[in-house]
Amino acid sequence: MRVLSGIQPSGRLHIGNYFGAMRQHLALQHENEGFYFIAEYHALTSNPKPDDLHKRIFDVAADYIALGLDPQKAVFWRQSDVPEVIELEWILSCLTPMGLMERCVSYKDKIAQGISPNHGLFSYPLLQAADILAFNSELVPVGADQKQHIEVTRDIAKKFNSTYGDTLVIPKEHIVHSVAVVPGLDGRKMSKSYNNTVEIFESEKSMRKKFMRIQTDSTPVDEPKNPDTCNVFALLKLVADENELEQWRQRYLAGGMGYGDVKKRLAELMLEYFAPYRQRREELENDHAYLRKVLDDGAERARKIARETLDRVREAVGLRA
Ligand code: ADP
Ligand code: TRP
Repeated sequence: MRVLSGIQPSGRLHIGNYFGAMRQHLALQHENEGFYFIAEYHALTSNPKPDDLHKRIFDVAADYIALGLDPQKAVFWRQSDVPEVIELEWILSCLTPMGLMERCVSYKDKIAQGISPNHGLFSYPLLQAADILAFNSELVPVGADQKQHIEVTRDIAKKFNSTYGDTLVIPKEHIVHSVAVVPGLDGRKMSKSYNNTVEIFESEKSMRKKFMRIQTDSTPVDEPKNPDTCNVFALLKLVADENELEQWRQRYLAGGMGYGDVKKRLAELMLEYFAPYRQRREELENDHAYLRKVLDDGAERARKIARETLDRVREAVGLRA
């Protein structure tokens, strides 16, 4: 099956991104045709500084490749290298009822946060629909926050097909990640916007320091503690095996354990988990030539498919030669 997902280049990736999304994306590349792209046009909706955006694009590319994206097998490219997507977005927009877009919660959420919206933010789900439909994607793995965008995509694709005849592949299903939300250092969802993240590839020293800072309750060392409400334990679950997890659970419940002990172990396990990827990430940091080559090759493969889709779409709507 063709699996497609987009990743916004919005900063160095953190362990919430990894356990919540990337790990599943990467796992899917083995059994499927993996299509992954850097969603730089989506990132433009928040008007990043040009130098920052440029750096982040390469950071995300290096993170994905270091963590195991196999560019020989999967197709990996930059969204802006396939302009057919924007053309498709326009054609789809002419079939999209305003009401469908107005119901999108991601837009309403941004307004509720007091962000003054631009038109790009409003049409963001439509660009996402074009991303998905241009490449005949069948499965789109996304987090729960993106589920509505896949439904919008399906609605628009069905409308296109019923208006102009069978042209677009309807993504058959979305996969919503079952991984619970990864908590950040302050216990809220780990997110760049909350400044509570641990980056996957930050220095070992800084990673250890951050894990020691995780907020916990003030139960004294001697007293029993509740693992199920503890942020440290929630993170430990991501990296400890079942035996070890059970031992820590018992230590929490028995009392006599300080949070410092479990934090130290968590830091060790996280560092161990990412250690095999660290060296590759360092090599890639300064190898923009290689990253460019991977992304250029990917763009060529991706663009060929998008061109074919656009040929069909143009023909269907009457934009014939
Ligand atoms: P951020 O909240 O840091 O801006 P994004 O919204 O760019 O992160 O998230 C990119 C992907 O990572 C999404 O698919 C999202 O579902 C997933 N993700 C981000 N943070 C977490 C988290 N704390 N727990 C689980 N998944 C997450
Ligand atoms: N909107 C997605 C996010 O913020 C990124 C994205 C853009 C995407 N286009 C996509 C995801 C197409 C899946 C399919 O995470």
